[in-house]
Amino acid sequence: MPAAANIFPASDGTIKQAAQLIARGKLVAFPTETVYGLGADATNDKAIAALFAAKNRPDFNPLIIHIAKREQLDELVEPNDAADQLIEHFWPGPLTLVLKRKQGCAVSLLASAGLDTLAVRMPDHPTALKLITLAGKPIAAPSANRSGTLSPTIPMHVAESLGNKVDMILAEGKCKVGVESTVLDLTGETPTILRHGGVTRERLARILDNIESSTHDDPARPKSPGQMASHYAPKLPLRMEVSEAGPDEAFLLFGPAFAFKGGALRLNLSEAGDLEEAAASLFAKLRELDQPRFKGIAVAPIHEQGIGAAINDRLRRAAAPRD
Ligand code: TXA
Ligand code: MG
Repeated sequence: MPAAANIFPASDGTIKQAAQLIARGKLVAFPTETVYGLGADATNDKAIAALFAAKNRPDFNPLIIHIAKREQLDELVEPNDAADQLIEHFWPGPLTLVLKRKQGCAVSLLASAGLDTLAVRMPDHPTALKLITLAGKPIAAPSANRSGTLSPTIPMHVAESLGNKVDMILAEGKCKVGVESTVLDLTGETPTILRHGGVTRERLARILDNIESSTHDDPARPKSPGQMASHYAPKLPLRMEVSEAGPDEAFLLFGPAFAFKGGALRLNLSEAGDLEEAAASLFAKLRELDQPRFKGIAVAPIHEQGIGAAINDRLRRAAAPRD
């Protein structure tokens, strides 16, 4: 695909232009520390409708609202003690908090799929923070890819997935975390992880002692509507926990390459077995292996601890049967 005309390197000038586009109801892709987001003014119903259309996203799947300052949170939701503690430790950063929507909250009901809760996060990326501040509005931003496909971690992936459906792509290299934010529901009795992500369960458990995880819920009735089984999917079928791949399979390794046999094309997430290094290039390497000349993608076993939980969650969804 040719370089898209709407990609602009992030600078004070282009961030300002992007903020003006958002304020006028347009769609801007921008970098965060996790993945590139597709941003729209969260308070503008028309812009949010255009965002769902651009991604071809089911409108029952609510969006994360991105803010740049703590004060903005109090205008949107009703924070509680657990939220205050977590915010102190993890914001800005890859932790999304689901809280009770405040009465009179200006966020479009379409953005939150009509729920009485709202998912909010403060990204740890100077460009994202500047953009939100200059737009003067909270920004709703799902990952900047067509619904159901792999999230983009470089600007070219955004262009390949969404092309001219985006008014502007603010480009600033590779996202450092590489998997999406952790989504934590704080509206019930027990804080519940709805999606594993950049802030690990272990780190959350150091602040709150009673965290649950809902990843093994009935996949047909997910608590987080975005947690449908088949998601984050490459085109090829994927199988996990493989130590020996077939001659017609692409092979995604983790750890010393000599431990694995076979594979027509072999890429290593981390030769050293470092989970954070693996997360940072997971989606880019899956894209690279997702070629029609292979029969499928085989993936080496990956430890479940730390950010490995988020990596395995994305892989399980990619391996789930498609409908
Ligand atoms: O790292 C990230 O979170 C990226 C960057 C761009 O910030 N964004 C992202 O957005 O991954 P998206 O739309 O791809 O995923 C949002 C997730 C979905 O699983 C959705 O169902 C869940 O958050 N979610 C949003 N609002 C919710 C709510 N009120 N209750 C429960 N889950 C919610
Ligand atoms: Mg997404």
